[in-house]
Amino acid sequence: MTALVVVGTQWGDEGKGKIVDLLTEQADAVVRYQGGNNAGHTVMFGDQTHILHLIPSGILRDTMSILGNGVVIDLPELLKEIEELRENGVEVKGTLHVSARSHLVMPWHRLIDQLREAGKGEKKIGTTGRGIGPAYEDKVGRRGIRMGDLRHPKQFLDRLEEIIAEKNAMLNHLYDASDQCFDPASIHREYLEYFERIESYVTETPTLVNSLVEKGRRLLFEGAQGTFLDIDHGTYPFVTSSNTVSGNACAGGGIGPRHISDVVGIVKAYTTRVGSGPFPTELLDQTGDSLRSVGQEFGATTGRPRRCGWFDAVLVRYAVRLNGITSLALTKLDILDEFETLKLCVGYRMTDGSTHTDFPFEGHEDVEPIYEELPGWKTKTAGLTKYNDLPMRLLDYLKRIEELVGAPASIISTGPKREDTIVLNPDQFWKS
Ligand code: IMP
Repeated sequence: MTALVVVGTQWGDEGKGKIVDLLTEQADAVVRYQGGNNAGHTVMFGDQTHILHLIPSGILRDTMSILGNGVVIDLPELLKEIEELRENGVEVKGTLHVSARSHLVMPWHRLIDQLREAGKGEKKIGTTGRGIGPAYEDKVGRRGIRMGDLRHPKQFLDRLEEIIAEKNAMLNHLYDASDQCFDPASIHREYLEYFERIESYVTETPTLVNSLVEKGRRLLFEGAQGTFLDIDHGTYPFVTSSNTVSGNACAGGGIGPRHISDVVGIVKAYTTRVGSGPFPTELLDQTGDSLRSVGQEFGATTGRPRRCGWFDAVLVRYAVRLNGITSLALTKLDILDEFETLKLCVGYRMTDGSTHTDFPFEGHEDVEPIYEELPGWKTKTAGLTKYNDLPMRLLDYLKRIEELVGAPASIISTGPKREDTIVLNPDQFWKS
């Protein structure tokens, strides 16, 4: 089997960028299968920090990088990202491939996302404002524009006229934004210019992916966001608009499930979330502030401060099952280096007094976390590269997490750089 899937097990920002970058060393191609430029994957190596929003982080190793059909693409943003990489000495020509079936995030998607959020006040989702939800809505509503549609200028114009008539009616009558209406002819011109610059990258990615499978190449499917932002399984409606779970690597990447051998779940050693929605272990006190400042918990896409809290094993156990996770990559353990004691949420007590160790359908807002407390290790672990150098108390914390969530750790990250990593068994991936 040739495919490994990497997914976030919490609410995103678990450190997928770094782990994907690390695993890419052994991969022949990296495929993104969902989301858009709402994601922000940070990769540090040498003295450079790269934040990628659309292009798979595999590009930094000059590995074939594929934007699959399940991704939604803001074309000018993709072109900007390509330019920025080029300025940093990373050439994507010949390495990057973009699905003709991927849907475009158009300017009205961004605008409607922002107008809707602004109109919701307290009830807002806290989206990234990148138009992701409206783009997926139009995909499912069969009103979308696919990358490959830009190959046919006449049909593209017809389609724009039809779509924009509806969007302008919404802007006029629903959002009181008649000054922001769109003109089909100028959008047509603008997007055909963009397309000229991207056309040579556009291909039938499912065919490409399957030809790699047939040759026995190693594929890495890179998930964006996290399990609890999944449209079906997350804390709805405070979720993103795609399936973030590993199963979507198949639909969004164009591969059959039988080719997937490993699913690596990225787990942050505590919990964070950006945007609104329930967060049972959130800490609104000094401890939460410490996690945020020591962990540098600010959004890679929007710069928003992330909400922080203790590790929630109920969440991650559920994520292990939903994604079929075969092993865990633990990130940011070093952020806990100075804590006197650490809490692990092992269950939820509901308002009616009942307790749950499985993620419940309702009541997330009101649950009281049931905690186990473990002593901190109070030792600097940042940058350690040998398992045997890890303090016993850190290993106890790690083992307890493994037990509670039902999956073994395969990677321990001890800092943001490539080299700050302990891989427990380097030969274990792509084997089964
Ligand atoms: P959207 O994906 O922009 O529609 O935002 C929906 C929710 O997902 C909001 O709570 C966002 O903060 C969250 N979100 C989207 N992308 C990411 C990400 O890459 N990391 C963390 N949260 C994200």
